[in-house]
Amino acid sequence: MKRYLEVAKAAAFKAGYVLRENISGRREVSYKGEINLVTEMDRLAERTVVETILDAFPDHGILAEEEAQIENSSGFLWIIDPLDGTTNYAHGYPSFSVSIGLESSGDVIVGVVYDPMRDELFSAARGKGAFLNEKPIAVSRNDVLIRSLLATGFPYDRAVSTENNLNYFNALIMASQEIRRSGSASLDLCAVAAGRLDGYWELKLQPWDVAAGSLIVREAGGMLSDFTGTRFSIRDKELVASNGKIHDLMLDVLNAEKRKA
Ligand code: IPD
Ligand code: CA
Ligand code: CA
Repeated sequence: MKRYLEVAKAAAFKAGYVLRENISGRREVSYKGEINLVTEMDRLAERTVVETILDAFPDHGILAEEEAQIENSSGFLWIIDPLDGTTNYAHGYPSFSVSIGLESSGDVIVGVVYDPMRDELFSAARGKGAFLNEKPIAVSRNDVLIRSLLATGFPYDRAVSTENNLNYFNALIMASQEIRRSGSASLDLCAVAAGRLDGYWELKLQPWDVAAGSLIVREAGGMLSDFTGTRFSIRDKELVASNGKIHDLMLDVLNAEKRKA
């Protein structure tokens, strides 16, 4: 486990360095959809991460957002978002991260999220706790929703799908203290883990947005589920992450809205 974590951290540092060094340069932007963009830096960061991992573990599988999908029978799958927060990055807005998770037999066993602009490295290994720059972190203790700081995000298909999260946003902004939108799902998850946010929810995320951050939340003592509160999967389209204490309160508001839809 130690070796997996070391390699994940090394890969995140290398890719993060590449992203930080190039944030003010001109970059080529192409579009995957009307508002879903990708820069050449997403691809360069991905190659940096994948190369570092395959150097160390040549027989492992890879699921990365932009280019790399390597299937194999080793039982280990690295799930990578080389640049989580690409819209921010393309605008020079300094909120983005490199997210790397390792899945084995259906469980995420290692997770690393690196914020290169703040030089903050969040990490966890299953059963070993969660850390920020090697210091242990824990979720907040707040149990009052109206005193809670929450975060969310909105899917790229929001203009063409009614499942665009605006209904849930409207409900929770009234029921909580405030809501933030960082533009990086993995940083939102790490903020819950570090007690900076009390809760976070989002729809239609991808495994690479969630793999590393979800382990970090769990290892920091937090809770993760879908809107029913009974299941959690990094491949689910509904995600609620919290300090545990406000989880049911968030679910009550979300489900009241869901019934109206
Ligand atoms: C996006 C970010 C954003 C979230 C979107 C994601 P990307 O990832 O995590 O916070 O709201 O749903 O797709 O495209 O920047 O890697
Ligand atoms: Ca992402
Ligand atoms: Ca990305």
